[in-house]
Amino acid sequence: MSGQARMTLGDKTLDLPVLDGSIGPQVVDIRKLYGQTGAFTYDPGFTSTASCQSAITYIDGDEGTLLHRGYPIDQLAEKSTFLEVAYLLTKGELPTKTQLDEYSYTITRHTMVHEQLLHLYRGFRRDAHPMAIMCGVVGALSAFYHDSTDIDDPHQRMVASHRLIAKMPTIAAMAYKYSIGQPFIYPDNSLSYTGNFLRMTFGVPAEDYVVDPVIERAMDRIFILHADHEQNASTSTVRLAGSSGANPFACIAAGIACLWGPAHGGANEAALNMLREIGTVDRIPEFIARAKDKNDPFRLMGFGHRVYKNYDPRAKVMQQTANEVLAKLGVSDPIFDVARELERIALSDEYFVEKKLYPNVDFYSGIILSAIGFPTSMFTVLFALARTVGWVAQWNEMIGDPEQKIGRPRQLYTGAPRRDYVGIDKR
Ligand code: SDX
Repeated sequence: MSGQARMTLGDKTLDLPVLDGSIGPQVVDIRKLYGQTGAFTYDPGFTSTASCQSAITYIDGDEGTLLHRGYPIDQLAEKSTFLEVAYLLTKGELPTKTQLDEYSYTITRHTMVHEQLLHLYRGFRRDAHPMAIMCGVVGALSAFYHDSTDIDDPHQRMVASHRLIAKMPTIAAMAYKYSIGQPFIYPDNSLSYTGNFLRMTFGVPAEDYVVDPVIERAMDRIFILHADHEQNASTSTVRLAGSSGANPFACIAAGIACLWGPAHGGANEAALNMLREIGTVDRIPEFIARAKDKNDPFRLMGFGHRVYKNYDPRAKVMQQTANEVLAKLGVSDPIFDVARELERIALSDEYFVEKKLYPNVDFYSGIILSAIGFPTSMFTVLFALARTVGWVAQWNEMIGDPEQKIGRPRQLYTGAPRRDYVGIDKR
């Protein structure tokens, strides 16, 4: 504890403990506030509220800093792999070569799904949005893996964590295959985590699929950039679901559902659709005007962030990756020109400068994914695939936190005071 915050409420004055983290903002511990004053705090959207202690990810929105267990995201994106970042996020330290080899072996041997799960896909219409399939299939995993649903058993928690991280690429690829009417491709455990995913997604039984190392590296980097992000909406959903003791598969399915929203993970699909709607550079001013119009609900998708009030460090790496992939594929997608010009104009427009609206992780990712061959409907699925590592790490941290209890926010009640029932003949 590093001091106290004095609060006076009516005739009551109380000193609230102030707690320090290792880095970043202090917190005022208000756990005794209601008991001592009868008042709640009020913070819609939790913009000034710390819901937990965590040692996994740190964001400085003003500096544009993102650290995973202390390591800067740009260094991890450049030097690490997604599976190594998964180890780092879930276990807290970078692995030795032996540890990484053992971890890769374990994850690789959980990539297949129960064969009966295939029938679940057939219950969906072919034109079902892949995120709807992901919500359903991941939630259904608890019906297939009963031996890893007991959250009080550390071994079962570990097995469920491995299964979720290992099976998300398989489930995601199957959702894509189902939507285009192609047969499912089984995992090939001789490939890397990301290479396996690319083959399950784009391979067909009729011919061999050769993983392009440039695409594999770009995809792996995109997964790293999406792996975890502090207590964002979907991670908070996973934690809240987990706080009731729900099984890990149900918690991750809840996170997937929350991520789907266009204000959150759905923004990458919405951003690319917006760039396509803009179509040409000369139409950008029209959309900038709409984004500034208070009466128009339109927002520039891929811009702005709850925490980053400076550049999203992931967007910088994503832009570099977009350049590499488009050059490698020889794709000169006109929407990339629209994206760069939109960014240039937005960053010089006083509305965006004043409101500190910079491109976020979702602004460029859609351009890369589209160039690789993913339909926009798969973009948020890829976000969910990668963020499963962060959700699993945060869920395990929550389960192990002695201070955690079932999440149960209160409210400022603005409804009718007590009144007696009136019979229908008197209304
Ligand atoms: C992700 O939390 C995370 O960490 C999320 C994420 C992760 O990794 O988990 O980083 C992933 O969700 C990234 C964000 C993807 N969403 C989008 O790109 C959708 C477009 N962005 C906006 O919806 C918005 O910026 C949010 C939701 C991202 C942030 O909302 P805030 O911080 O609550 O900001 P706000 O809605 O209060 O806006 C502040 C002002 C408002 O104007 P005023 O009411 O003050 O006059 O900025 C304006 C807004 O109208 N504004 C925008 C805008 N974003 C905010 N105006 C135009 N275009 C935008 N994109």
